[in-house]
Amino acid sequence: MGAKNSALKIIPAALLSGDNMVIKNTPYIKDIDKALSLLEDLGVKTEKNRRTIKINPKTINKTDLNAKIANKFRASIMFVGPLLARFKEVSFPHPGGCVIGAGGRPIDLFLDGFKHFGAEIIKNENNYKLKATKLKACDYFFTVVSVTATEALMMTAVLANGVTTLRNSAMEPEIKALADYLNSQGAKIKGAGTSTIKIEGVKKIKAGTFKIIPDRIETGSFAIMAAATRSKIRITRCKPDHIRALLEIFKKINIPFREGVDWLEINKPKKLRSYNIKTHEFPGFPTDLQSPFTVLMTQAEGSSLIHETIYDRRLLYVDMLSQMGADITMCDPHRVVVNGPTRLYGKNLTSPDLRAGIALVIAALIAQGKTKIDNIYQINRGYENIDARLRGLGAKIKKL
Ligand code: UD1
Repeated sequence: MGAKNSALKIIPAALLSGDNMVIKNTPYIKDIDKALSLLEDLGVKTEKNRRTIKINPKTINKTDLNAKIANKFRASIMFVGPLLARFKEVSFPHPGGCVIGAGGRPIDLFLDGFKHFGAEIIKNENNYKLKATKLKACDYFFTVVSVTATEALMMTAVLANGVTTLRNSAMEPEIKALADYLNSQGAKIKGAGTSTIKIEGVKKIKAGTFKIIPDRIETGSFAIMAAATRSKIRITRCKPDHIRALLEIFKKINIPFREGVDWLEINKPKKLRSYNIKTHEFPGFPTDLQSPFTVLMTQAEGSSLIHETIYDRRLLYVDMLSQMGADITMCDPHRVVVNGPTRLYGKNLTSPDLRAGIALVIAALIAQGKTKIDNIYQINRGYENIDARLRGLGAKIKKL
């Protein structure tokens, strides 16, 4: 399917232009509906027909983001840069989303970045208000590598005066896809997909058609699911090159696979080997695949150290795997050791966040007995129609 993390940036990018935009290959997931409601609330007209979304931004009549909608998903922060760039003012609440960072998920990099473009920031009790008379290009160094902050400042820079340089930028494929689209509409962005991005500001950009790139996290999740359940599956319309870190590890732990430019076939592994991973920004091992990989390691021979370096609350779900019978020791909030192989048993569980949610689904598929997972809203946020698709692959799964 199309990538959630690409769609959620391309939709707000529609606000950078006054022209109509068409987005193709959008996944049917809840976060997309929320992004469209946020646009509608601003007065923007949107139309959804199967996987195609049409956006007409001409009728926009305000720049304050609806708190009730924005509070519900982290990517609402992506609307701030484009609104500030085009209308020089925006107000928004602290965004919601998966609770995977201690003390919530910060937006300090965004605020600091917007300030460098000359925006004034007023923090009220319930929201932030940003204003600028003119946005001027800047030289900005990200002290922490952040995907969304890189995309937000890149979008802001497109309409700022002068040449902006973003250093220590994130390099995820979704950032390059966003830059490619903006460049096709008149933006002047160089270096997206590397750590230094240079953006020459332009007066305005056009809008056109964008086809969402394949979801690499979904591809990786299905690939891990196949290996964990000892199944053979073929994933089509994907981009194996975007999950190179995972595939290189597959070679080392005995998971046979074949790949083409846009397909990936996982074959039944015999004896899985354990492996230590450390999550890292792209092109390293993605934090979003850490939880599915941890489940896989419960089936591998030996001990694996799982080191989550990006988020400090993203290993708490291992408690549920332990309840299912996994042998996992938590060393500290960032590291766990998995000893395998162990048999897992079905349990009643609650999905804590999106990616841990899919990990529990994978664990349930290999477990003996029935598993009931609650709070599946979290899984639906990122994985389209997961129950029906897994049933198609032979899984016994039902949405209650
Ligand atoms: C994006 C992805 C998410 C993925 C993550 C890391 C989207 C919509 N979401 O999230 O699926 O898990 O990248 O690959 O694209 N940070 C700060 N201050 C900030 C912003 C971030 O300290 O203002 C920190 C975060 O707490 C985290 C690190 O930066 O420790 C990286 O997070 P970031 O890349 O920003 O993740 P997101 O862009 O939110």
